[in-house]
Formats: sequence, structure tokens, C-alpha cells
Amino acid sequence: MKPFGLMAAASLALATFVPTVPALAQVGTPSAVPAKSVTATSPDGSLVLTVAIDNDSRPVWSLSRKGKLLIAPSKLGFILTDGLNLVRGFTILGSQTASADSTWEQPWGERRFVRDHHNEVLVRLQQSPQQGGRLMNIRFRLFDDGIGFRYEMPQQSGLKTMHIADETTEFSIAPKGTAWWIPGGEWNRYEQVYQKTPIDAVSTAHTPITMRLDDGTHLAFHEAALVDYSGYWFKRADGQLFRTTLSPGSGGARVVRDLPFDTPWRTIRIADSAAGLVENDLELNLNEPNKLGDVSWVHPVRYIGIWWGMIRGDWTWAEGPRHGATTARTKQYMDFAAAHGFRGVLVEGWNRGWNGDWFGHGDEFSFTQATPDFDLDAVTKYGAKKGVHLIGHHETGGNIANYERHLEEAMALYQQHGVEVVKTGYVADGGGIIADSDRAGDPAGPLRMEWHDGQRQVEHHLAVVEAAARHHIAIDAHEPVKDTGLRRTYPNWVSREGARGMEYNAWGAFANGPDHEPTLVYTRMLSGPMDFTPGVLSLEGADHAPLASTLAKQLGLYLAIYSPIEMAADFIENLKAHPREMAFIEHVPTDWAESHLIAGEVGDYAIFARKDRNSEEWFVGGVNDASARDLTLTFDFLPAGKRYRMSVWKDGAGATYLTDARHRIAYDTVTIAKGDTYPLWLAPGGGAAMRLVPVD
Ligand code: NOJ
Ligand code: CA
Repeated sequence: MKPFGLMAAASLALATFVPTVPALAQVGTPSAVPAKSVTATSPDGSLVLTVAIDNDSRPVWSLSRKGKLLIAPSKLGFILTDGLNLVRGFTILGSQTASADSTWEQPWGERRFVRDHHNEVLVRLQQSPQQGGRLMNIRFRLFDDGIGFRYEMPQQSGLKTMHIADETTEFSIAPKGTAWWIPGGEWNRYEQVYQKTPIDAVSTAHTPITMRLDDGTHLAFHEAALVDYSGYWFKRADGQLFRTTLSPGSGGARVVRDLPFDTPWRTIRIADSAAGLVENDLELNLNEPNKLGDVSWVHPVRYIGIWWGMIRGDWTWAEGPRHGATTARTKQYMDFAAAHGFRGVLVEGWNRGWNGDWFGHGDEFSFTQATPDFDLDAVTKYGAKKGVHLIGHHETGGNIANYERHLEEAMALYQQHGVEVVKTGYVADGGGIIADSDRAGDPAGPLRMEWHDGQRQVEHHLAVVEAAARHHIAIDAHEPVKDTGLRRTYPNWVSREGARGMEYNAWGAFANGPDHEPTLVYTRMLSGPMDFTPGVLSLEGADHAPLASTLAKQLGLYLAIYSPIEMAADFIENLKAHPREMAFIEHVPTDWAESHLIAGEVGDYAIFARKDRNSEEWFVGGVNDASARDLTLTFDFLPAGKRYRMSVWKDGAGATYLTDARHRIAYDTVTIAKGDTYPLWLAPGGGAAMRLVPVD
């Protein structure tokens, strides 16, 4: 793919790295004169955007960083199903600039305060009368560490509804590099093992897709505020040219929208280092502020569950002699939770509907009727006396039609029983989501199936989150649509799965592989919290299948993979057998004032330093891949003039995930102050965890 649009290329070549002075919510004068191109810069001037019309009258955008071309001229537009294209015949009608610098507070998260510092330009385009005369606006926001842009379709005569066959947004990545990605449009949704390939060997990828260019620049392509639209896959067209392809819909169009409307933001995080990708709030900043008002009812929570036993196959979701969700076991788990200060106990298989083949069907699930051996009233009253809340569970089998019919009563029932979080699930491994069904009347159909990241399912997830909010319930969605930062607007959407979690480790030796978690940190985790379910301290899945993890890595996961709802996943007997490790899990917070990646590279390792939101304590730790490594951690993130007693859980001498030596753990206690260093050896498949308590 050759760069085209001579004029745009020329303006890029001339672009220099001139810092600009950031202004506070400044709005520029609209330019009314038709222009051949429009440029804008990030607040520090390092990113320079050019929007132009190419020789074929198509709108194109390009981006340079520190004077080097990053994104070569790339097309913008839509193909509609009804023969209309918003592709050619465009002129730039005018543009309008603005800039903003503000800081907002998260109700919970990896950091309390988020700075939103950007310049923006709205480019107004129109097609020639021969091409239909349609209007199309594109808003670009430039931050120092990334950009976002979206189409804003204004109300106009002659175009009432857009039936979008596909969006033709392009990203022509100029420099060579390496990509970490999972395939889009495949079976099993996002639950895939990450691949590492040259950029020009990517096929169709889900986002976030992460890249490291040969000059060390790190990129992550994703989207923000996916509302009433289909998620996009990042599809390679040629060389390093990628095009958005929208998740399909069951009708002809992939998206149907009445005008006016805005698309989600197409985003690129851009940084010099892996840490710059991770400590980056681009997508959150591009989402709308909290719409729910007071969300003091959303509680970050550590939990245990009647869960690992079903995943391993020792217990069943279905009723019968091995049924996991019994009243007696739930009380036993609640006792354990109370003894260790955990606020939640997840119980799966508590309801009717698991006895048949529920995978991909879900029409038999009841969301209100418990099994005969599970007394919802009794267990929640029992928990209430101990300050322990039931974590609810709504598996749908992908049948959203069935779930939506019962949503309101399902949430109301849980609210009456003090449930604060509901885990939802959309298991439908072979096929898609059942968006409309009449299976009760006719077991063969009719069925309307949709993609799990198509417009209909995107709409469904928000309907669930909004219904839950009306009942002061938070949502943790498994087999979800990808996270695009909507937790800012709906802070009760606390977590999701959306990648291979711990459950895969129950299903085969070294199932997720030692690289998996240090890859997740720089890929899936850029999108938002993940209910990964760490804390399998026995390091064993079904039939003694070993985890690709040392014992210390199980603790390091609590620092590496953030979720405000976070599990200690093992059987309580196995947790009890590790009192020294439990002393860490009991104290590690689920809500942070600050988070910093202090050491790490994509796919190799990741060590975080995080400060508790509710105390002066710091926690440090993370995960390693299959290669042993020696690190020297520098504690320059600590406040000056304070000393800390640091307790350390680290890989013991000779530890490796490959043998029984995976259980070897070493403990240390030292005094640490700002600027001190600490040597840390990470085992193959290893990790570490540290707790820093102020001593003065
Ligand atoms: C798959 C989820 O990831 C898992 O956590 C859950 O237990 C099962 N579905 C059943 O809902
Ligand atoms: Ca899953």
C-alpha cells in the first residue's frame, strides 16, 4: 500500500515538533472557508494530525509523532447496504478546534484521579451533490499519549437512517514492528491464546491489539464508548494497512442507526514504553461522565465462591448428589469469608435450569427459582449477620431473549436478599447469542442469532447494567462484549471476563501457559478490569493438572490483573492450608489511589506498585513469563520521608512452574524508604507480592 494524497503527505513532512501551550477548555473559532486539509496537535505538540481530501476525493487522516510518520494517510467513511456510500466526493466544509485540561475522580479503580488533557478538532465534510450531498463530521481528540476519533453524523435531509454494511476506517501503520493479538470473529469469543507476530502477519484481530514498533514506540488500537453500535475487528487489508470491520448483525446491516448519532471512538494509545501504554486513561477520558449519580452502593469486593469445584468437575451446577450450591456449603463458605474479611460469596448453580444441556440454549434457566437444596432466604440472612453478601449468578447460555424477559424480577429478587454484585454469563461456545426465540412453543425455533459483540448484544449489556443499577446491583459479565471504558459512565459495570481466565488452568496441564498473564497486562487489561479469578494456591486443576505458575505468582496476580471484584478461587480447604499466603490475600486491596507499572515488557513480565485508596499502605508485585530473570526494583514512587516495613512473598530458590518446585516460596521482611532498591529473582512462571506498611 503506497501513501497517497500528495498534499497530506507533504504537510506531514513539514510537520515539526513544536510544543504548544495547553489552554483550559478553550474553544477556537470555526473556520468556514473550505480547506484542503486541517491539522491539529496534541498539547505537548508531539502528535500532529492531518485530515485531508485525497486525489480521489476521499477523506484521509494521518498522524506523525515527534516528526516521524506513524499513520500514513488512511481513509475514512462508510459503506451502506442500500447502495449509498460515504466514501468519495467529499470536500472539507470547515473545522472547529477546542482544548481542555481537567481532572476527574473515579468512584473506584486503578487510580483515584484521572487527568483529561487534550486538544480537539471537529472536521465538517460534505459530499458533492452528484454523490448525494451528505454531511459527515469527524471529531479528533489528541492527547500526549494517544488519540481518539469518531464520526458524528448530523441530522440532514435525505438521510434519516443509516444501514451500515461496514465502516471503512483505515489505519496504515508506517513503521515496522511486532503485534500481540487474538483473532476476531472466531469461536470462543475473546477466550484465545495471544499470538505474537510481525504486524504484517496479523489477520483479523480483536481489540485491544498491542504493537511495539522497531523504534520502541508502543501502540494499542482499541475503541471507547461502544454504545448502540457493533464492536469492530481490526482487519489487515494489505501490508501494514488495517481496516475496521464491524461485527455482523443478523440482518443485512452490521449497524442500523437513526441520525443524528455518534459512533464509538476509534482509539490509539501511543507511548515510548510498555508502562506508558498501561498507565494511560485514553478510553476512560473519551467516555461520558458518570450517569448514575451517587454510586456509594458499588463496593469493591474480595470474594470466594462455590465455583472452582464445578470448573474442575468435582461438583456440578446441575442438581444431584454432587450439586455444589447447597445451603450447608454456602454457610460454610460464608463462615470462611467472614473469618478472612471477604465481603462476597459467589454461588453458581443455585437456580433451576442447569440439568439439561444448557450450553448455547439457556431457555430453561430460571432467574428466580432456587433448587430444592438451596435456601436463598436462609443463606442471605445467615450471611447478613456476618457482613457477608451473596454474589449472584445469572448464566444465560447466550439466550438473551430469555434473560431479558425475566431481568427485572431477577434483579429485584437479588436486591431483596442483599446481593450487591451479579455475575452474568453468556456461554455459547459454538454459536452466537439468541436474541429472539420461541423455543418454549417450538423446540426447533424460530431463533434469531446475533454475534456476542454485535449491536444487539451491545444494547443488551447496557440494558442489564441499567436494570441492575435501578436495584443498586453491580455487574461482572462473563463471555461479555469487550470493555470500552463504559465503567466511567456506568460505575456499576465493575468487571468482566473477556479473555482466558483461570478456569482454563483446570482443563489441562499448563493450560494458559506462563506467558499468558504477562501478555494480558499489556493487551486485554488495557480495556479495563478482568475477573481473572486468581488464588489457586494448590496450583492444581482437575486430575492434578499443574498450573504454569509458582505459588508466588498466584499472589502476584492480585497486583498484575486489576479487578474491583476479585476472587480467591481455590477450595477453602486449600486456602486454609496456606495461612501465610492468606495473610497477603486478606490485605491486598481491590481499590487503589495510584497504580504504576514499575518494571515490565509486553509478554515478558509486569511488576506494579499500587497505593491503597483507604490507607497509606503500598503493594508491589506481579508476574513473570517462562524465563527466569533478576530485577532490581527501585522504590522511587514512595513519598519522601516515610519508612515502610515491607513483607515479601517471592519465588524460593530453584522454584520453577515446570516441576513440584512451583510450590517453593520464600519470605522476607525489610525496611524500605523512597529511593531504596530491592533485588528480586523471578522464577520461570514466577511472580512476587509485597506489602508495605508505614512505620513512621
Ligand atoms: C463460564 C464462566 O467463565 C465461568 O466462570 C462460569 O462458572 C461458567 N461459565 C458457568 O456460568
Ligand atoms: Ca468464560
